Amino acid sequence: MDTKIWLWVIIICICSQIIVIVAETDPNDLGVLNAIKSSWKNLPPDWKGSDPCGSNWEGINCTDSRVTSLVLAGMGVKTNGIGDIPLLSVLRYLDLSNNKEIKAILPTSIQNLKNLTTFYACRILVGCSFSGPIPDSIGYLDQLVFLALNNNSFVGPIPPSIGNLTNLSWLDLSDNQLLGPIPVSNATSPGLDNLVKAKHFHLANNNLSGPIPSQLFSPNMTLMHFIVNDNQLSGTIPSTIATVQTLEVV
Ligand SMILES: *[C@@H]1O[C@H](CO)[C@@H](O)[C@H](O)[C@H]1NC(C)=O
Ligand SMILES: *[C@@H]1O[C@H](CO)[C@@H](O)[C@H](O)[C@H]1NC(C)=O
Ligand SMILES: *[C@@H]1O[C@H](CO)[C@@H](O)[C@H](O)[C@H]1NC(C)=O
Ligand SMILES: *[C@@H]1O[C@H](CO)[C@@H](O)[C@H](O)[C@H]1NC(C)=O
Ligand SMILES: *[C@@H]1O[C@H](CO)[C@@H](O)[C@H](O)[C@H]1NC(C)=O
Ligand SMILES: *[C@@H]1O[C@H](CO)[C@@H](O)[C@H](O)[C@H]1NC(C)=O
Ligand SMILES: *[C@@H]1O[C@H](CO)[C@@H](O)[C@H](O)[C@H]1NC(C)=O
Ligand SMILES: *[C@@H]1O[C@H](CO)[C@@H](O)[C@H](O)[C@H]1NC(C)=O
Repeated sequence: MDTKIWLWVIIICICSQIIVIVAETDPNDLGVLNAIKSSWKNLPPDWKGSDPCGSNWEGINCTDSRVTSLVLAGMGVKTNGIGDIPLLSVLRYLDLSNNKEIKAILPTSIQNLKNLTTFYACRILVGCSFSGPIPDSIGYLDQLVFLALNNNSFVGPIPPSIGNLTNLSWLDLSDNQLLGPIPVSNATSPGLDNLVKAKHFHLANNNLSGPIPSQLFSPNMTLMHFIVNDNQLSGTIPSTIATVQTLEVV
């Protein structure tokens, strides 16, 4: 009798353990990752089974069964489009850098990633293949601290809405085909002058035009690197730049 009870206790323990393990990944996030798995190529070989959080799929970190980081940097990942990544709704860290075969635009729905603090679409040395305009809706990602979209094929203007991202510390849009002015704020629109926490503005190697606005710089800023070479900018460097005490590289 006694041993039977103990057997049952053991069986129940094992079963509940299994149930806990099976349930470790949020079903919504699992669905998104499974969809990515079935349509992207060259994903990490350990993307197996049905529990990305519980079995530690490479490049995935979770918090409380939700996927909070997705890092596929430099894996030679191949896809057309970023799939349902915008549905990973509590993602904080997204790094798709150094994958030449990610051919994608940034959809308006990127705005759903409300918890995103870091987004690398690319880094130095190996370009990626994002194209199309940078959507205005990027201005809703108000937790962003690092935004690196450099060395892609983005076209069109710098969305003034980036000025809403007042937590940004790092803004790198260099090596694209962006055109138009460096946006500054006015009564109806935000602009890059709002980014007083930013330490890096890297805008080099685009097709930006017009003057460097004097309004861009203020004593409130903490800018260290302001890099805008190889554009179509005109006029002189405004004297207001001297009010930025933290500047190291222009
Ligand atoms: C993911 O988790 C690993 C292990 O805890 C950690 O080393 C790594 O920095 C985390 N990555 C991100 C992007 O948070
Ligand atoms: C997402 O952001 C909300 C609001 O800031 C916060 O309450 C929540 O804890 C965050 N979730 C994760 C998993 O980071
Ligand atoms: C951009 O990417 C290309 C390859 O796609 C590479 O040759 C070039 O060095 C990169 N440029 C920078 C500044 O990283
Ligand atoms: C930017 O902020 C302004 C004012 O706070 C707001 O009206 C606008 O909807 C925001 N736009 C984006 C894209 O975040
Ligand atoms: C900036 O970061 C702080 C601290 O994480 C957060 O409370 C705030 O909502 C973020 N966004 C803005 C626009 O300040
Ligand atoms: C305010 O800035 C926006 C975006 O930079 C621009 O389109 C608009 O014409 C500006 N409005 C005025 C009144 O200058
Ligand atoms: C850059 O701008 C100039 C002048 O506005 C234009 O002639 C040229 O075609 C543009 N180049 C690209 C790559 O968009
Ligand atoms: C500096 O910051 C203060 C407080 O945030 C603000 O009232 C002021 O307009 C800012 N000055 C400039 C020149 O942007």
